[in-house]
Amino acid sequence: MTLPNQRSLFDIPRDVAYLNCAYMSPLLHSAIEAGIGGMRAKARPWTITPTDFFSDVEIVRRLAATIIGCDANDISLVPAASYGIATAMQNLSLASDQEILVLEEQFPSNVYGWMELARRSGAKLKTVPRPADDDWTQAILNAINSKTALAALPHCHWTDGSLIDLELVSASLRKYDVALVVDATQSLGAMPLDINRIQPDFLVAACYKWLLGPYSTGILYVAPKHQNGQPIEPGWANRAGSEDFTALVNYRDEYQAGARRFDIGERSNFALLPPLIVGFQQIIDWGVDAIQETITGMTDIIANRAEENGLRIGNRSHRAGHFLGVRLPGGVPSNLTVELASHGVFVSVRGDSVRVTPHLYNNSDDVDRLFEFLAPHL
Ligand SMILES: Cc1ncc(COP(=O)(O)O)c(C=O)c1O
Repeated sequence: MTLPNQRSLFDIPRDVAYLNCAYMSPLLHSAIEAGIGGMRAKARPWTITPTDFFSDVEIVRRLAATIIGCDANDISLVPAASYGIATAMQNLSLASDQEILVLEEQFPSNVYGWMELARRSGAKLKTVPRPADDDWTQAILNAINSKTALAALPHCHWTDGSLIDLELVSASLRKYDVALVVDATQSLGAMPLDINRIQPDFLVAACYKWLLGPYSTGILYVAPKHQNGQPIEPGWANRAGSEDFTALVNYRDEYQAGARRFDIGERSNFALLPPLIVGFQQIIDWGVDAIQETITGMTDIIANRAEENGLRIGNRSHRAGHFLGVRLPGGVPSNLTVELASHGVFVSVRGDSVRVTPHLYNNSDDVDRLFEFLAPHL
């Protein structure tokens, strides 16, 4: 099922062609209202009760679980993908003769932590080179061997949307008893994911892109087998019994159930959680399958027009539907994004790829505008 255009739900002027959701999604009008409501509450702190410290937190957990297809107990609230990776890093151990797999040009939040773990443990960071045919899945399968202890992967590559078949990869990883950590920042909310088939140890997503949330919000899925692990912060709100503010100094070793122990300190963010809830609910109402199908229709149109104009697009069967990496014949001019922005066209350049990432608010005028102002650079 495809969805009708949703531009009226966002604050996007007619002459802005915002094709850059992989950079940052705009907030829904209703999310902005919810955020203002959260700010207003803090202006009158006597209206914020101890119960409020726990209510939105649990709504976020429940909605995130609905999007991921897991139990609310498996969700932890984090402020960034890097925080989720740090949590995973803290709870996975490696031997010095083992290897950690990452992809060439992977987003740094899912690399620096593993560099550090490699330094600490003596393990080797093994980078899978970008395959010429865009088939990352096969390249990853070829790289897995008995030394592999951990694979830290995305669902699609952040530079150009090239796809990783996590179901196939995870089946191979399980044969070698390899831990899997997924950074789903560039896919969750726009691309369906079967958590039961992928069975990651940890899966993190920053929420300010395809999850339509505000900046500084993220969610971390923690597999049940890691839910007795060690959080990176010795917090208080995630301890058992923290609902009773009168008894907080009866210090407790026990945590709240499931992945709550890994929650960020001051997780009850009164300004950011209400708009996050609105964004999550909207995604659930549209449905991730329908979002993917609708955006795929748009990227297919853009890809066809790009190819007609002599641009190079990655292999369709290895590309996430919501994502497009366009390569210009003579390379990307250094001023391209600034030049396009001056005409109200917004895309990103990542490596040698012009990243075009539409969402349900984009229309055919936006696509025309993109090609009109790209034309002089071809
Ligand atoms: C794949 C990927 N992961 C994570 C992030 C953001 O990371 P963090 O939340 O650590 O700032 C981005 C931002 O572009 C990204 O593309």
